[in-house]
Amino acid sequence: MTIQTVKGENYEIKDPSLKDEGLKTMQWAASRMPVLKLIKDRFTKEKPLDGVRIGACLHVTKETSQLCEAWLAGGAEIYLCASNPLSTQDDITAALVSKGVHVFGWKFMDSEGYYRAIGQVIKSRPHITVDDGADVVSILHKLKRGETDEEVEIVRKLIGEESDIIDGVWAGAEETTTGIIRLQAMADDGALLYPIMATNSSPCKNMFDNVYGTGQSSIDGIIRATADLIASKVFVVAGYGQCGRGIATRAKGMGARRVIVTEIEPHAALQAVMDGIEVMSMIEAAKIADIIITATGCKHVIRKEHFEVMKDGVTVSNTGHFNVEINIPDLEQLATDKIQIRTFVEQFIMKDGRKINLLGEGRLINLAAAEGHPCEIMDLSFALQALATEYIVKHKKELSDLGSKVVQIPEEIDTNVAYLKCKAMGIKLDILTPEQEKYLSSWRVGT
Ligand code: NAI
Repeated sequence: MTIQTVKGENYEIKDPSLKDEGLKTMQWAASRMPVLKLIKDRFTKEKPLDGVRIGACLHVTKETSQLCEAWLAGGAEIYLCASNPLSTQDDITAALVSKGVHVFGWKFMDSEGYYRAIGQVIKSRPHITVDDGADVVSILHKLKRGETDEEVEIVRKLIGEESDIIDGVWAGAEETTTGIIRLQAMADDGALLYPIMATNSSPCKNMFDNVYGTGQSSIDGIIRATADLIASKVFVVAGYGQCGRGIATRAKGMGARRVIVTEIEPHAALQAVMDGIEVMSMIEAAKIADIIITATGCKHVIRKEHFEVMKDGVTVSNTGHFNVEINIPDLEQLATDKIQIRTFVEQFIMKDGRKINLLGEGRLINLAAAEGHPCEIMDLSFALQALATEYIVKHKKELSDLGSKVVQIPEEIDTNVAYLKCKAMGIKLDILTPEQEKYLSSWRVGT
């Protein structure tokens, strides 16, 4: 599907006339993100990001619009591209452009458009990069190393032979598990050239966003794509990490007849069993599944031998960051025909007549077919991202002295976000008495 886009000075989006719809949706999001609102109000007064250029590659959703509002209030100039070809909300891009954000993204981008958008962000020579999946960091490093591939060539067409844009970057922040894994591997190899704040590794991100956000929105994505019932189904989740746990427990709560997890890691498998969820190998689970979703961050978790044993009518989807968890070329090879039966459902017809339904091109289903995580969850994740960028500006010298590492967001920032969220939700906490404080910090008192 080729999408007609509108290009302007410093933007390329689907349709600027969707602005009013987008502004209303932004208001809706704002009313559900109180912590980010507090940060935005402080940023308006203090302008901690004055003159700072942020190059962000994030899912362009209503929640991200609120992070942009906080950054704008802080004085930043923002270049924003999509971090997935299917996750952009086109009304939001139009609204953001009207507010002065330089946006490059539209729903159903093709690969050329996707990397052209990343190229525009890189071309802006950002001081800070904010990634969801490390795509901007990865291209910046390839340019510096003089490597080439199809994706880099698309970016080169925009920026010419410049390879030193990375030298102007102070630091970055990373939103997701897969991005952190990629960046940590680069740091371990000595290949990372600037420090990255590991937003995903903070408790306020992965304890809530990955578990409750992905848990609810992935099931929302499956339902919006198929309009199917969850109750009565055999529901298989590959991976019982943060995301998988959220999905499996929610599927159970919605009445799935059997919830089954597949795992490669013994602690995760034990945790699933003790949460009352069956664990088996994918080859066994694939035979009985009605719905399968992958949430592993791994490659080819579902492949030829699994497709061969699946039941007629099975639904297969992914919520891990990249569209590599389901081996789609295997499925294409096994199928005799393919029908786009609904917007986000491709039906593959097997030689023996079985039908396998693939959702959202194997891309993260919660952002492809639904709207990603709810605002209430992204209030926490994006509060951290806003404070991470402020931290980078204030501490760029220390970060640079630390070297090119993946750095944790300071604990006090994370704890502060948690306190603010509790306050906003009217959650009252007990306070330690002096006696309790003394007891908890002492090793002398005991039996
Ligand atoms: P995690 O590391 O907590 O969990 C992954 C689990 O998958 C681990 O328990 C691991 O043992 C298991 N696993 C790995 N390979 C496997 C295989 N071949 N078969 C079965 N299990 C396997 O990671 P987390 O935070 O749950 O993230 C998972 C993926 O979801 C990542 O790609 C992450 O970037 C992505 N993600 C997606 C979101 C969304 O909005 N859809 C939000 C947050 C994360």
